[in-house]
Amino acid sequence: MPHSLPAKLSTALASIMLLASPFTSSASNDIEQRVDELLAKMTLAEKAGQMNQYNGFWEVTGPAPAEGDAKNKYEHIRTGMVGSVLNITGTKDVRATQKLAVEGSRLGIPLIFALDVIHGHQTVFPIPLAEAASWDLNAIEKSARIGAIEASARGINWTFAPMVDISRDARWGRVMEGAGEDTFLGQKVAVARVRGFQGDDLTDIDTIAATAKHFAGYGFGEAGREYNRVDVGTNTLYNMILPPFKASVDAGVASVMNAFNTLNGIPATGDVFLQRGILKGAWDFNGLVVSDWGSGKEMMQHGFAKDLKHAAQLGVTAGSDVDMESYMYVKHLEALVNEGKVDIALVDDAVRRILRLKFKLGLFDDPYKYINEEREATLLGHADHMAAALDVAKRSIVLLKNQGNLLPLSKTSGKIAVIGDFADDKNSPLGSWRFGSIDNSAVSLLEGLAKYRDDIEFAQGVKVVTGEESFVQEITVNQTDATGIDEAVALAKKSDVVVMLLGEHGFQSGEGRSRTDLGLPGLQQEMLEAVYAVNPNIVLLIASGRPLALPWAAEHIPSIAATWQLGSQSGNAISEVLFGDYNPSGKLPVSFPYNVGQMPLYYNRMNTGRPIDKDSNVFWSHYSDSPSEALFPFGHGLSYTQFDYSKLSINADDPAKVDVSVTVKNVGKRAGEEVVQLYMHDKVASVARPIKELKGFEKIELEPGATKTVNFTLDSSKLGFFDREGNWIVEPGEFDILVGSNSREGLTGQFTLSMK
Ligand code: NOJ
Repeated sequence: MPHSLPAKLSTALASIMLLASPFTSSASNDIEQRVDELLAKMTLAEKAGQMNQYNGFWEVTGPAPAEGDAKNKYEHIRTGMVGSVLNITGTKDVRATQKLAVEGSRLGIPLIFALDVIHGHQTVFPIPLAEAASWDLNAIEKSARIGAIEASARGINWTFAPMVDISRDARWGRVMEGAGEDTFLGQKVAVARVRGFQGDDLTDIDTIAATAKHFAGYGFGEAGREYNRVDVGTNTLYNMILPPFKASVDAGVASVMNAFNTLNGIPATGDVFLQRGILKGAWDFNGLVVSDWGSGKEMMQHGFAKDLKHAAQLGVTAGSDVDMESYMYVKHLEALVNEGKVDIALVDDAVRRILRLKFKLGLFDDPYKYINEEREATLLGHADHMAAALDVAKRSIVLLKNQGNLLPLSKTSGKIAVIGDFADDKNSPLGSWRFGSIDNSAVSLLEGLAKYRDDIEFAQGVKVVTGEESFVQEITVNQTDATGIDEAVALAKKSDVVVMLLGEHGFQSGEGRSRTDLGLPGLQQEMLEAVYAVNPNIVLLIASGRPLALPWAAEHIPSIAATWQLGSQSGNAISEVLFGDYNPSGKLPVSFPYNVGQMPLYYNRMNTGRPIDKDSNVFWSHYSDSPSEALFPFGHGLSYTQFDYSKLSINADDPAKVDVSVTVKNVGKRAGEEVVQLYMHDKVASVARPIKELKGFEKIELEPGATKTVNFTLDSSKLGFFDREGNWIVEPGEFDILVGSNSREGLTGQFTLSMK
């Protein structure tokens, strides 16, 4: 029992547990045996209860269901009809709710408490896309670790993260929640996050169960429209979409969430092929599958289930173990089994998975173990956590352009103006998905800059968002009121350098935030051009949760940096980069386009049969009115120093692997970090391969003048691909290599893979 519980209550609870749950006194520590013992005691209704997950009573992260009134939910928890809950946080409420289940229900099975811990908790880290731009796996793991420490201090033991969906369409709002467009980077980031959340041991009170989501294909919604259908072939499914899930499973992720979308006509929640065939079959996943919010009942809207009972049948048959907010199992599972429509073995399998996780979390040994008021009082927003958030935030900033070395700014001379509605905003930098955060708690850009200089002048310029800033309601953008532009222009005129923070509000990306325009929202472009007309010395900072299309800015503005939504320490992180106390090291995890018409855009595209303009006529794969490539490519990011690449060496003598090495030298005047990237192209294969694919990267740090040799090994796990049946194959033949500082530039080489 936790020491924070009064002794009398501890004793009372202990005896309740002993009486109600003889399994806790089982001599055996073996989880499987304990699961089986408990399962044998459960009625069918209690089994269905374990598969039922309710939303808490205040936070809402989906459409509020009519049936979801608090009174029913309390009663259901008390009678063992609920196995887990989401959106109940804080030791007080978690304890009260857990008490209902443990003391009220016949078997006293504890609840699991889930929450979307996406990028930190009270200490808010950069949005996941931004963190991916750091390409710093240790920093990313630490971010998830701290998210787990803080959330667990509020009684949470399960997060619905990481989102490992690959996303190649910037119109989709949830690009912000993933690791970007690349599968290799996506796998590495997924593993780092799973490790961070789960630590070494799930029974530790500061670790929480992770969820790889959304299985599968959710990031490929047609036209980037939220919840839209996904139609992809096996090539994309096996080679692009599934690997980050597989990597998560291999890293021991406790759960997988299925998805709202249909995949090739089948709602993911009812997809036998995905959940039973691949996840629980081929991959032998023994964790649990949770539905997305109401995705069970949405099978009716999809035109796949005829009613809620049918949805329940389809869900359990397909292997969707926990029903979040559809009420379908708790209402219909008993009847379905009794009528012979659902095999009890399927129900038992689902319940086993749920109980297994509860045992792994240690909840049966102490259902109140995560409820610790002392941790709650001391850990949230801890100074060490803030320091880590600042560290990741700096690493996440991507310097896209720096003509004439306008950056870094001088700490002492020159008049600096700051312009932009977001510059004094303490809320937007917290980004989307930020439960546990305190509104308006981020360090604003102005506050960060003030630590360096006290003579900076500020003009807000045009308002970007009018009305409510809300996670659940649409954001309204100011399209008409140009007030503020004159003031901004006047300030720019009398300044030497103008720092402009423009872009999207944190709630313009995230779930339900698909957009068809990737330019600067509202009147910001107009303001940018007006300011440029009087003072072209502009440092443009882009706030966004997705790639924006800024071709005019890329052509005219001398210095541009992607500053995303960077969380609690946003203003401090940006200021350190602007004044050169941190040398930027981020690289784009997504391609930045010229225009929205290029979507979906990604570097690892196919060659097509007509890739180049040989005859200068129109019959080749291109756009007539736009470049076909990215404006800023995947992997791109500058530093205040320069790196020289030399001595690319490739050794393919060993048929089992290819060794590649390259020498990188810091030829500039400052210490800096570089992400050395290796791309590979399998020139001829039985299934045509992309023109290049990331297969390795290493982030290195070099003092001025210093040199480092970076080694990569391409073994069979990197040299092959999935064929149309989902088999991994490695084929002999010729390969191209590119090793460099982004997906476009570097040293090139070739090798021939000869098989034994
Ligand atoms: C819907 C989202 O798609 C999912 O990612 C999230 O975990 C749930 N809502 C719960 O908030």
